[in-house]
Amino acid sequence: MGERILVCVAWPYAKSVTHVGQIVGSILPGDIFARYQRMAGNEVLMVSGSDAHGTPITVEADAEGISPNEVVERYHAQILGVWERLGVTWDNYTVTTNPTHYREVQAFFTRLLERGYLFKETMTSPYCPTDDRFLQDRYILGTCPHCGFARARGDQCEQCGKLLDPDQLIDPYCRICLSKTSKIEFRATEHYFWDLTKVQAPLEEWAQAAMGHWRSHVVGVVQGWLKEGLRPRAFTRDIDWGVPVPVAGFENKRIYVWYDAVMGYLTATIEWAEQQGTPDVWRDWWVTTAENPQPSKTYYFIGKDNITFHAIIWPALLMGHGELVLPYDVPANEFMQMGGMKASASEGNVVWTPDALDRYGPDALRYYLAAIMPEQRDTNFSYEDLVRRNNDELVATFGNAAHRTLTFVQKHFGGQVPEAGALTVEDEALLATTRATFDAAGAAINAVHLRDGLSEAMALARAVNKYLDDQAPWKMIKTDRERAATSLYVVVQALGALRILLTPYIPHATQKLHTILGFSGSVDNCAWQYATVPSGQALPVPVPLFAKFDLPEVAAV
Ligand code: MF3
Ligand code: ZN
Repeated sequence: MGERILVCVAWPYAKSVTHVGQIVGSILPGDIFARYQRMAGNEVLMVSGSDAHGTPITVEADAEGISPNEVVERYHAQILGVWERLGVTWDNYTVTTNPTHYREVQAFFTRLLERGYLFKETMTSPYCPTDDRFLQDRYILGTCPHCGFARARGDQCEQCGKLLDPDQLIDPYCRICLSKTSKIEFRATEHYFWDLTKVQAPLEEWAQAAMGHWRSHVVGVVQGWLKEGLRPRAFTRDIDWGVPVPVAGFENKRIYVWYDAVMGYLTATIEWAEQQGTPDVWRDWWVTTAENPQPSKTYYFIGKDNITFHAIIWPALLMGHGELVLPYDVPANEFMQMGGMKASASEGNVVWTPDALDRYGPDALRYYLAAIMPEQRDTNFSYEDLVRRNNDELVATFGNAAHRTLTFVQKHFGGQVPEAGALTVEDEALLATTRATFDAAGAAINAVHLRDGLSEAMALARAVNKYLDDQAPWKMIKTDRERAATSLYVVVQALGALRILLTPYIPHATQKLHTILGFSGSVDNCAWQYATVPSGQALPVPVPLFAKFDLPEVAAV
């Protein structure tokens, strides 16, 4: 076995079925990377789950008049169905309401407390006297001091986008009772604070050493935060939904959702180990020792809005814990816009993943999202573009190369991989490109340049098409059967390679190709290396790998 690679993927809130921005931002890159690493012979663990806590969930529950847990259970089940259809290869996709998570988050809290990273302090928080409860920032509405929008939230104005504090709102009122007569009060409340100043120096030192291979926009965010200087942050909240604080007197408070969520990477590994019946095995992935400071390489696949929590806050928590491995890379993606505008569920400007899957299936969707993945800058999604790329690149290039070759072999060579005669310079050249593509695409994916990995494979698919046009075995067969056989043999080898090279990206199509090339079992078990498709191997009657789609009638997004 090679290295241990821990693939950590951002936890979607359990309040919707997920939209394609979440898929392109973290889920798909995590899956492409994990699939590649397994094929490359590494030991991979891919974890995530549904984020169950926080005001995004309670706001949805209030709006529907059901409990937060009902919201979570409904959407968690639906999200699992989406992963099934999209073909995401989780080792553990859990949910932050699982008992292991509660237990381990509390243990983490206790450890931080014992190691002196947490202190108690009284602060004042907004309170609704009518409902008799403290109000989280999102539960306070009022007029935005910047743009005058009447329903601005206490954390942010949705109209002008400015970040706010609740006390900046003009005429604030409670979102629950909507009472504009009973004034919001500010009351004293005691909370745990997390003393981040204690890790400023070690974080700087670590970041300096770690960031050499990080994306420049991630480095920028980290350096900005460190330069500004870390300050203590509230660790608990006055809310009744979340992981309870394991301290007497704090029964009505919960650990802040972002802290329990990032700890999920650890707790999901622990839960996975328990489910395997080897409860201590999580240590092999997480626990550092003097001899083994890097038990695994940990990668965090996230969108850019989550950089601070993964590249500052989580490493700081890990340092506070003192024994756990720090991130190896945090390859955050930029945003994918929708029809030229920011994706926003509340503005109705998102494409829900199940809808995209209903229309075009997993291959076209995965392919398109990988091709426009916003690795370095924002990109733009449109169904029109998806259809065009599907038709031109998957159907007309890759699919066509496979289909015309395999139907021809069926017809003229009795459905068996032909014998090769002497190889020409052109044959050697295509085989050399085929072999080299494993190294080039593998190196790109390993460096988390996933678009480049796809480009390398698609360049090979184009080379195969060009070779077919040049060699024209369907003409050659009339004059020189052996030459036709040899060139078909060469193309079959390149197709055999493409079945492996494209598996991280479009695993459903490559599984079909695997089968129609005469192999049994799962394409996922192939190693990332050139391997021949032997002469004489029986080829089943080929099925088309992809379907052509009509351009969408309404240019919806
Ligand atoms: N649920 C949050 C979001 O979607 C957090 C995701 S990553 C986590 O933005 F690690 F913090 F869970
Ligand atoms: Zn109220």
